Amino acid sequence: MDGIQALDGIAGFDFALYEKSILEPIKKTVRVNTLKAEVDEVCQSLESIGWNLEKIPYFDYAFWMDGISPGNSLEYVLGLICIQDPGSMLIPELMDLKKEIRVLDLCAAPGSKTTQISQIMKGSGTIIANDASSERIKGLAMNIQRCGCSNCLVSHTDGRNLPNWGKEKFDCVLVDSPCSGLGQRGLKRERGGSEKYSPLQRELISAGFECLKPGGVMIYSTCTFWPEENEDVVNSLLESSLNAYIVDVFKEIRGKGLDCVNSLVDGCARIYPWHNRTDGFFIAKIRKDERD
Ligand SMILES: C[S@@+](CC[C@H](N)C(=O)[O-])C[C@H]1O[C@@H](n2cnc3c(N)ncnc32)[C@H](O)[C@@H]1O
Repeated sequence: MDGIQALDGIAGFDFALYEKSILEPIKKTVRVNTLKAEVDEVCQSLESIGWNLEKIPYFDYAFWMDGISPGNSLEYVLGLICIQDPGSMLIPELMDLKKEIRVLDLCAAPGSKTTQISQIMKGSGTIIANDASSERIKGLAMNIQRCGCSNCLVSHTDGRNLPNWGKEKFDCVLVDSPCSGLGQRGLKRERGGSEKYSPLQRELISAGFECLKPGGVMIYSTCTFWPEENEDVVNSLLESSLNAYIVDVFKEIRGKGLDCVNSLVDGCARIYPWHNRTDGFFIAKIRKDERD
């Protein structure tokens, strides 16, 4: 993990805490799919077959669990639960989702956040779930079907093409970008990746913003910590789009009781793996001004 030490001291990054938290055992976490069942009903059923559930305090519908592999359960196959990191679950909660709106999830596979967005919107409105990968799109389609997300449509193209037909058509956009993945626990990562990802990320954030209606909200997120993939990407959008404004998601996350640090771009948040027992994320929330 040599190169990662270069991040020490940047925007609250602590290499020693990173090294410790990234390799410690991870508790599995499940989200109850409220499109299909009530939370209490699913919990009772899981506890009756010996699952030991501990409620995650920041969500009404999510639990840490011990023992059994949740992917091998009937409840999983039936789409009553999804396996998802709680840091990932935070992101749809920050999107100002409402019933009946039109949402674009630009980099959606395998659909953890898409299916959660669908559940928050109570199956109403429309979600276009797009991904460029032929392999990963299969998992996305399966998860959407398994979870009964009837408001989701799958699109398979490079996200940079979406403004061709989606310009200013969406109330809400998520760009959960491909990245070098330093924040994912249980994986040892080496330096590198930012050079590969940063140009693509700049194009994806720009495409996502083009697709946003005036007045709409976009989230840009990664699970990595290099400024080249995070703050620099957000700054490139702010420089090229005079109608792009940062919404203070740092305060919003703190208000939900989770720990995070203010990023190098004021109002964007960095969640490190040692903060809340979650994977690490960078999150920016951007509003498109109504005026040009
Ligand atoms: C971090 S993952 C998305 C995870 C997903 N949002 C979830 O919560 O399950 C990034 C995704 O971006 C996709 N991707 C990579 N390049 C892309 C591009 N040019 N356009 C659209 N999607 C792309 C990858 O295939 C990958 O599935």
